[in-house]
Amino acid sequence: MKETKKIPYKIYLEESEMPKKWYNVRADMKNKPAPLLNPGTLEPMTFEELRGVFCDELVRQELDDTTPYFDIPQEIQDFYKMYRPSPLVRAYCLEESLQTPAKIYYKFEGNNTSGSHKLNSAIAQAYYAKKQGLKGVTTETGAGQWGTALSMACAYLGLDCQVYMVKCSYEQKPFRREVMRTYGANVTPSPSDTTNVGRKILSEHPGTSGSLGCAISEAVEAAVSQDGYRYVLGSVLSQVLLHQSVIGLETKAALDKYGITPDVIIGCAGGGSNLGGLISPFMGEKLRGEKDYQIIAVEPASCPSLTRGRYAYDFCDTGMVCPLAKMYTLGSGFIPSPNHAGGLRYHGMSSVLSQLYDDKLMEAISIEQTAVFGAATKFARIEGILPAPESSHAIKAAMDEAIKCKETGEEKTIVFGLTGTGYFDMMAYEKFNNGEMTDYIPSDEDLAKGFAGLPEV
Ligand SMILES: Cc1ncc(COP(=O)(O)O)c(C=O)c1O
Repeated sequence: MKETKKIPYKIYLEESEMPKKWYNVRADMKNKPAPLLNPGTLEPMTFEELRGVFCDELVRQELDDTTPYFDIPQEIQDFYKMYRPSPLVRAYCLEESLQTPAKIYYKFEGNNTSGSHKLNSAIAQAYYAKKQGLKGVTTETGAGQWGTALSMACAYLGLDCQVYMVKCSYEQKPFRREVMRTYGANVTPSPSDTTNVGRKILSEHPGTSGSLGCAISEAVEAAVSQDGYRYVLGSVLSQVLLHQSVIGLETKAALDKYGITPDVIIGCAGGGSNLGGLISPFMGEKLRGEKDYQIIAVEPASCPSLTRGRYAYDFCDTGMVCPLAKMYTLGSGFIPSPNHAGGLRYHGMSSVLSQLYDDKLMEAISIEQTAVFGAATKFARIEGILPAPESSHAIKAAMDEAIKCKETGEEKTIVFGLTGTGYFDMMAYEKFNNGEMTDYIPSDEDLAKGFAGLPEV
């Protein structure tokens, strides 16, 4: 053992130390994220336009770039207490195995039935829908964690929940689907013939395995065509990052308890919600000039929106029914290879993170999936937790940083987000264990096809 373990393996907060407010990092950004645009007029979306799709309170949160803190309603705080605070774990075993002088911590969000951080925003969005007197909500889900989280939140609050699940996940993860149905959700594989946009996508791309962008289009259409329904989204939007700030606020409170200041903060990035939430309070300090941190977004080499995308206005969905968002994007028509396991398959990135990245306040790297699963397997054997493939992108990057420290002798403190567990990803693990997993990196020509579809703004 390289040091006396003054820091416990798991740092928990008392209930009384849990955050009572979410932190809105946009309030401290000098360059605000660009507004959502109406695709018809190219003018910023107004409250009135957005409230046809989203719940009123969530639209207010979405449009608010200036209020730094939002009270977490007591009912949501109470729900959080059922599975939060989540532990901040000191990865002593991993450090020892890597023989690194680095100190590694991970914030583990997988300790709830949905198996990921998604529940933090699902309960908030379902709560505001219920409070508005709605009958139900519609949504998309990729790997299935968001759909599961929303199903749990809706079951708790007595709301109807309709989930459009990306077809390849629907087929690869039947048990994930059944968990959602057990919580009372109605699950449809996307693209489907239940919506106009689904039928159009099916006729243009017969046999498609679907994408998050397609499923979003279907879920939005389902919401606006039924009375008493609104659409909810599990990532990308600024309101989701706001709710997920609970991850970063808890992490910071736990570190502060022991006087620990991280040097490097790492998170996987699909649409950006866990990373945005984890880094928010730290980024706030960085933006206010109080402290500096190295912040790294990790994305899959097969869907590299930050590292190889364009910073441009784009549709959030394949069917082009949603507002335009300015973000790092591969184009809303980009469909990642079905070879790629798990989430992180979204073509764009949160506007907040895109702006922070463009302002060089954070870095991004991409990693191939066999390397990610190699790290996942090692982590499972050493730290005991079977990680989600998405989270394993952050594990791999954290291990690489720790190995660099071994070479340089630096005793950096590394914090990464362990967003979830991988029990429903065993088909991907099976492929990896059988040596059948391959890497897919899109060529520049592949990406050019996606960029060609970017709207002119
Ligand atoms: C476990 C897990 N981690 C990370 C992500 C990526 O999403 P985001 O970038 O919004 O955190 C997902 C998305 O499905 C997920 O299920």
